Amino acid sequence: PYPTYRRMRETDPVHEHPFGLWILTGYEEVAQVLRSDLSVDVGRVTSGAFREQSDELASSGLDVLTLSMLDRDPPDHTRLRSLVAKVFTPRKVSALEPEVTELVDAALDEIAEAGRADLVPALAFPLPFTVISRMLGMPPTDSERVRELSGLLVRSLEPVNGPEMLASIAEAGVEMTAIIRELIAWKRKRPANDLLSSLIMAEHEGSRLTDDELVAQVTLLYVAGHETTVNLIANGVVALLRAPEQLAMLRERPDLADNAVEEFLRYDSPVQQTRRVTTRPYTVRDREIPPGTFVVAALASANRDENYWGPDADRLRIDRDNARAHVSFSVGRHHCLGSALARLEGRVAIERLVRRFPGLAPDGEVEWNGRINLRGPERLPISV
Ligand code: HEM
Repeated sequence: PYPTYRRMRETDPVHEHPFGLWILTGYEEVAQVLRSDLSVDVGRVTSGAFREQSDELASSGLDVLTLSMLDRDPPDHTRLRSLVAKVFTPRKVSALEPEVTELVDAALDEIAEAGRADLVPALAFPLPFTVISRMLGMPPTDSERVRELSGLLVRSLEPVNGPEMLASIAEAGVEMTAIIRELIAWKRKRPANDLLSSLIMAEHEGSRLTDDELVAQVTLLYVAGHETTVNLIANGVVALLRAPEQLAMLRERPDLADNAVEEFLRYDSPVQQTRRVTTRPYTVRDREIPPGTFVVAALASANRDENYWGPDADRLRIDRDNARAHVSFSVGRHHCLGSALARLEGRVAIERLVRRFPGLAPDGEVEWNGRINLRGPERLPISV
């Protein structure tokens, strides 16, 4: 996608797409919109392809999912986010490092034994999936099926989908929310010291959370907890395999591991876009976007903007000074709640993988998942 993003930044950084949505690709413009008070409530989009898409999904009962904090403005957003924010603070998250390390090492043991692997099912997917499942206190479940369903569900974050895909998303949403409702029912009978129990408690304590909000919130945490970090790990490893001198540098300089993760996030954003809705005429650069418009903030493009990063924006440099200024976790009110967790999982996974296997190499073609937004490998064959 990067040559396309570049062309858009150069010729039309505030682009009005014929489908009735606007696409921002420059760093300054993306940051401006994310820091603004524009809405995230896509129900307020009044026209264009996205309006049709959400009407279609809403008619299948999927509108329950728009009750999560990701799609809510204050005061609902503030209330919903505060119910879970304390679990995701950097301090709480760093206490998980031993557990994350153990999970990574167990996966690496299996890879070592086989001598080769598809890194996605071997490490990049199960690591964040297991961690978020444990944090939530989910009972063991059919993780393969959940993976398939959430893979479809996140397609609703693509700016536009065809009718067949929309039908599959709707079916996946119905099955997924049914699974989540069952998991919640299971947990209601067995409360424990976990995130799901504390959300259930919040529902019981007066009117802090409705039943549908609970379902939406748990689905968001469950899906956001793994559909994103899988791409951080897999995209990061692909980037390193394609830049052997950076791989060598990371092996020599373990102190660069944290910064390398920031650079992976910048270089190939696990979430390429997010969205806002204008609620009034809104000016970006010299263009006025009308109210009720779906606006795409192309995070991945902002992260490669030469005007901000300089002429080497398209190069992976794990020792880049200001890598942390990327917008991959967004900025402002909706800044990713799971960023500390994602950083921890990404760092431990990649650092231990490259340290353990000096012979790490590609073992065939990477197969991409075909998504525009949550873009990453579907298959990443490696040999060690
Ligand atoms: C929101 C990126 C991992 C939970 C977001 C947003 C982005 C993002 C771009 C949207 C913000 C906006 O529209 O302004 C990422 C990336 C990840 C990652 C790149 C991994 C590399 C996680 C994890 C969790 C998580 C592990 C944990 C469960 C959330 C939640 C929100 C969110 C709850 C909604 C926050 C709000 O609306 O206030 N994330 N995320 N994310 N993320 Fe993440």
